Amino acid sequence: MKLAVVILAAGQGSRMHSAIPKVLHKIAGLPLLHHVINAARGLQPEQIIVVHGHAGDTVQAACPDPDLIWVEQEQQLGTGHAVQCALPALETRIERVLVLYGDVPLIQPATLRGLLEKSRNGLGLLTLTLDNPHGYGRIKKNKSGSRVLAIVEQKDATPDELKICEVNTGIMALPVEHMENWLSHLSKENSQHEYYLTDVVAMAAEGGVLVQVAQPQEQIEASGVNDRKQLAQLERAKQRMQAEELMLAGVTLQDPARFDLSGQLSHGQDCTIALNVICEGKVTLGDRVQIGANTVLRNVCIADDTKILENCVIEEAEIAAKSQIGPFARIRPGTRLAQATRVGNFVEIKNAQIGQGSKLNHLAYVGDSEIGQDVNLGAGTITCNYDGANKHKTVIGDNVFVGSNSALVAPVKIGPGATIGAGSVISHSAPADALTLTRGQKQIVPHWQRPQKPRDGG
Ligand code: UD1
Ligand code: MG
Repeated sequence: MKLAVVILAAGQGSRMHSAIPKVLHKIAGLPLLHHVINAARGLQPEQIIVVHGHAGDTVQAACPDPDLIWVEQEQQLGTGHAVQCALPALETRIERVLVLYGDVPLIQPATLRGLLEKSRNGLGLLTLTLDNPHGYGRIKKNKSGSRVLAIVEQKDATPDELKICEVNTGIMALPVEHMENWLSHLSKENSQHEYYLTDVVAMAAEGGVLVQVAQPQEQIEASGVNDRKQLAQLERAKQRMQAEELMLAGVTLQDPARFDLSGQLSHGQDCTIALNVICEGKVTLGDRVQIGANTVLRNVCIADDTKILENCVIEEAEIAAKSQIGPFARIRPGTRLAQATRVGNFVEIKNAQIGQGSKLNHLAYVGDSEIGQDVNLGAGTITCNYDGANKHKTVIGDNVFVGSNSALVAPVKIGPGATIGAGSVISHSAPADALTLTRGQKQIVPHWQRPQKPRDGG
């Protein structure tokens, strides 16, 4: 059956107390609406139509997919009216419409497929059975409970109807052949003076169209975001779902509740991730990669058997196999580390390539540099890449040894096999295989008096 998904996203979201439209608030780094669009895409529908309200431009700009169809609902006259607004955009070949909410982000394609399957010959409702159904539309059934008769909104329900615990999640599958007719008969005669989409259920039941209900695997799938408290709850739920998926796929998470992923993590076998690790963007781990506690990885590719120790921040970088980074290393965009490199504590690297087996073990800054193989940069080595206006490059050949606390003033080249004496300032190229050092002569001033603090009372 040819399917269109209509996503209702015109509500204001006033309880968010925000200048940002509600559906653009984020869960796992993606706007709520993106999650719903992704779930819709999982069904491979013919069309996805998003009904938006005032902040249409901002919402559209945040979801630039060219195949989305945008419809404006100028005034929010109710969920029925919102679906009515989408009707002119429906292609004639569409046979079914699935209504989703832009602020119900955790809905899963498998649940939606179940609903569509079950309601093949009629109208489908995704419902929940709740201990506390307050606020939701109630599913009214016949005495035996075998047929759905109507949905009654909280504000219109009788005391008996309020006792019903099966509620409407709002997600609904409608047959197009009846839908237009049903929607044209909606009225605002209810306590909220809105056109309720839910009124089509009674019309279907009266017209002999079968109404089928399905339930999601987890309640949280059908939960909406109205305020930031719920946003945080759904964030945790999404993180739990992602963490479970990773563990089932073979990643060890030391504590799944203390791991956050906003983006995509692909991984090989037997990776382990310690506490409070944050992965953002596209993160790729090879086999047996270990990530230490309190580490942030943002758009990073890390190859087999590499260990990232605690408290590292690594961004837009590629790290080859068998390397060891950290603790407390900061690796910035444009860094490429070859196999078996060592980057130790308080080392910052930016836009640099480091050759195989090279070591930067302590307190260094390397920026805009090309460093060969088996190089050892001593503690406190600094590439002075910036002259206040321009960035310059440092090139270091294979097997170079740079003594501690040396400043390499770029642009500068250090030839292969060179040694730089500790404490040097190298502002001209240093030749291969030689020792270059720039220490001044030792000076001795005998009987040197250090400045004295004034004595108390003196
Ligand atoms: C709706 C259902 C209720 C269900 C509940 C689940 C109706 C009449 N009621 O009630 O049975 O239990 O959801 O949360 O449908 N929207 C628009 N345009 C509008 C009005 C709403 O786009 O004119 C969008 C909102 O942005 C939101 C969704 O539709 O994403 C639901 O609207 P909301 O006002 O929250 O409906 P409820 O009163 O909660
Ligand atoms: Mg609501």
